[in-house]
Amino acid sequence: MRTQVAIIGAGPAGLVLAHLLARAGIDAVVLERRTRDYVEGRVRAGVLEQGTVALLAELGLDARLRAEGLVHTGTNIAYDGRLFRIDMAALTGGSTVTVYGQQEVMRDLFDAAEARGVRILFEAEDVAICGIETDSPSVRFRRGGSGHTLACDWIAGCDGFHGASRAAMPADVLKVFERVYPFGWLGILAEVAPVNHELIYANHENGFALASMRSPTRSRYYVQVGLDERIEDWSDARFWDELAVRLGPEAAAGLERGPSFEKSIAPLRSFVAEPMRHGRLFLAGDAAHIVPPTGAKGMNLAVSDVAMLAEALVRHYRDGDPSGLDGYSERALARIWKAERFSWWFTGLTHRFPDMDPFARRMQVAELAYIRGSRAAQTVLAENYVGLPLA
Ligand code: FAD
Ligand code: DHB
Repeated sequence: MRTQVAIIGAGPAGLVLAHLLARAGIDAVVLERRTRDYVEGRVRAGVLEQGTVALLAELGLDARLRAEGLVHTGTNIAYDGRLFRIDMAALTGGSTVTVYGQQEVMRDLFDAAEARGVRILFEAEDVAICGIETDSPSVRFRRGGSGHTLACDWIAGCDGFHGASRAAMPADVLKVFERVYPFGWLGILAEVAPVNHELIYANHENGFALASMRSPTRSRYYVQVGLDERIEDWSDARFWDELAVRLGPEAAAGLERGPSFEKSIAPLRSFVAEPMRHGRLFLAGDAAHIVPPTGAKGMNLAVSDVAMLAEALVRHYRDGDPSGLDGYSERALARIWKAERFSWWFTGLTHRFPDMDPFARRMQVAELAYIRGSRAAQTVLAENYVGLPLA
């Protein structure tokens, strides 16, 4: 088997890349360890930046997104029993975000794949990356009980944080930067109307809470929990009570409760691996970096990485110009580090840290009060939240 670009992983990074390459007439094969149902079933991101929506529109993959996605012109912050709104559109010259679940994005990408010649091999196991320092790299894998080799020009490692691609980079080449946070997010989905028509990020003495949604009838809520907490200890009743306390009386007024049908705990981490290219191997998305979810940057970064990578591959194949590929890592990392900074800062502003003393708590509240009263501070938040330009 031979292709121009072997893509490992059919998450948002891998599949958006495959669609971008297919549109440009570049041959690619996606190798995915799991089944389509598994990938599509994972409840993860919910908020799309303006640029992510624009890219999906450019690919003509936005019909359902336009019909069902919820465009938000603002977001809200609750603290100390107060609630204030940040008018993102007014502060950024009209930019917005769109609430549309990662599951829906994946469904749209998968549904369009076959007709557009996007080739995906599901249940490709034991992927091994070979020859990245040579001109003839390949990927070996097992599928349907037998071994296969996919020869290619380039390998795109889009296989997430626990994938094989980053591990295939020589240890002496890779630099890793990391913060592990001493808490996680417990998230639920429930078939109830959202408490508010926009998101609410809440800072409370007990810890962070987030009110989000998937549709006008489906809510997505999160509360910060300790790393030692067990999901079995969080009955729905306990979750709803704690969420109401943390959102505060104003924000929680009208909170509709109901049975949860998804409940999971996700740890929080900041992580960047540099560089994002070695020889014939490129990394993109969670394979190269992780942000804590505060600010909803993870999936959007995966998409902006592959937008840059696809542009570089097109310049290489169409114009014989290698400069895009040579500059990919530096260009992608410049934007990634800004999103890392924003996600780290927004996490620090809104969460309770175990070692927080009364001074640190006062600093948080002072910063929230400052943002509440300052158009300049709100503009900084808004322009990061809607997504920085690709540059
Ligand atoms: P992944 O989605 O992890 O996809 C990688 C794919 O590679 C997977 O399908 C995996 O099965 C496959 N794979 C792995 N290893 C191999 C292998 N060895 N061989 C073959 N295939 C392999 N982001 C946002 O932008 N907004 C949000 O609101 C947001 N909220 C989040 C909430 C939660 C609870 C979580 C957990 C994440 C959230 N994120 C959010 C982050 C977002 O989900 C990820 O950043 C995004 O999925 C990254 O896409 P990816 O394609 O790089 O990686
Ligand atoms: C969601 C997740 C986030 O991390 C965030 O900042 C906003 C919304 C969500 O899952 O809806």
